[in-house]
Amino acid sequence: MAATTQLSQDELKKQAAWKAVEYVKSGMVVGLGTGSTAAFAVDRIGQLLKEGKLKDIIGVPTSIRTYEQAKSLGIPLATLDSQPKLQVAIDGADEVDPNLDVVKGRGGALLREKMVEMASDIFVCIVDDSKMVTGLGGSKLAMPVEIVQFCHLYTLERLKNLPAVKGCTAKLRMDGDKPYVTDNHNFIVDLYFETPIQDSQAASKQILDLEGVVDHGLFLDMVDVCIIAGANGVEVKE
Ligand code: 5RP
Repeated sequence: MAATTQLSQDELKKQAAWKAVEYVKSGMVVGLGTGSTAAFAVDRIGQLLKEGKLKDIIGVPTSIRTYEQAKSLGIPLATLDSQPKLQVAIDGADEVDPNLDVVKGRGGALLREKMVEMASDIFVCIVDDSKMVTGLGGSKLAMPVEIVQFCHLYTLERLKNLPAVKGCTAKLRMDGDKPYVTDNHNFIVDLYFETPIQDSQAASKQILDLEGVVDHGLFLDMVDVCIIAGANGVEVKE
């Protein structure tokens, strides 16, 4: 039973990803997201390139993991240094609210994802319908904040006492018995909420204003197209 459920969720992720790849046209510079849903999109782009149905694509990966995947598929790759202007970026999300504001970064790639997706004309977010929430923070799963390693416990304490996230629980993300380290050599603090964040714009500003914070997983006013796959089919919201 568990295997069947897992299979069907993967199938939904794949459906959303394949629909998103329809936005990719030959000659485009494409942001390649991170995570299990985005991986289906990267695979699909690799497949279409191999079949000659897409040509002259340049991919800008959002993590070392995605870089390795795309490289193994033969997708030509660049960074924002040489390709600062992208036509489309495709990536998954952890939570999507009714305004298409999203939480990202449970996979730890939030900083590079935000940089690449901000540089893109169109950000296509791909999810299965289990990611839909009525308010950000409402899934009871983590809202990540990337922080520098220096005095990280001090930053964690200050983070959880910010007025806009007051009452949250803050935990340093671990990798076994050591702190999890991002591709950028930073740590992650995961914030957990009992109820959805009341004012996500205020939370975003207060978190970013804190010295020691690099970025957070609130992606507000960034999604242009959201593709949601569910039992009744694939929905495209713009
Ligand atoms: C990684 C991310 C992922 O896009 C997000 O966690 C969704 O992952 P998945 O598609 O595996 O559920 O933000 O930093």
